[in-house]
Amino acid sequence: MPHADSAMIPAGLDKEAFWSHVHEQLGYLLAGQRDWVTNLANASSLIYNSLLAFPEFADGDRMVNWCGFYIDSALFPAPKLISPKDPQAPQPARLLLGPFCGKPACQLIHVSPGKARGVCADAYCQKKTLLVKDVDAYPGHIACDGETKSEVVCPLLLKLPNEESERAIGVLDLDCLALGGFDEVDSRGLERIAKLVVDACDW
Ligand code: SME
Repeated sequence: MPHADSAMIPAGLDKEAFWSHVHEQLGYLLAGQRDWVTNLANASSLIYNSLLAFPEFADGDRMVNWCGFYIDSALFPAPKLISPKDPQAPQPARLLLGPFCGKPACQLIHVSPGKARGVCADAYCQKKTLLVKDVDAYPGHIACDGETKSEVVCPLLLKLPNEESERAIGVLDLDCLALGGFDEVDSRGLERIAKLVVDACDW
C-alpha cells in the first residue's frame, strides 16, 4: 500500500473506531524505523491528515488546524559539523518545536516550574493530558495561531529501566478552530497514540 493511503479513513466510523483505526495504521507506518525525527514526522502527518479525512474534524468551522510535537531540547542532537555545542554546559528546561503539520508555530516553549506557562509546558510538567475547551480562558496559553479556539495536549512519557517513574520527553499537541473541539474520547485516543510513538523510537 502506498504510504499516503494510511491516512485514508473508511466511511461510517464513530470516534472510538476512528482513533483505533489511526492507531493501527500508525503501528504499520512506524514499523522497522526507530529514528524519532522520521517517526514523529510521519506520525504528525498521519494524525493530521486522518483527522481532516474524518467528517467531525474536516468541516470548515470544526477543522483541526495543527498537529505536532514539542520535544525536550536535551533530546535534540548536538550539531556535529558546525558549531559543536558543549555537552557539559547546563541547559535550561525548554520544549523545542518538532515535526508538525499546519501553519508555522512558536519554536521554543520555556518550562518554568510554578509559573503559568501555556498548555504544552503544563502538560509536560504535570505529565498528564490537558483538554482545553477554550484556549482564551487558559492561563498563559501561547497563541501560535489566533484562529485556534481549543486544544488537547498529551505528554510523551518514557519509562527507562533504571528509573522508578516515567519521565516526560515532549508533548503531542492538536489544535482546533472550534470551541470545545476535542473531548475525552480524543484525549484517550491521543494517549494511546503517544505511547505507540514513544515505544516505536530510540530516544
Ligand atoms: N498553544 C500552545 C503552544 C503551541 S501551539 O498551539 C502550536 C501552548 O499554549 O503551549
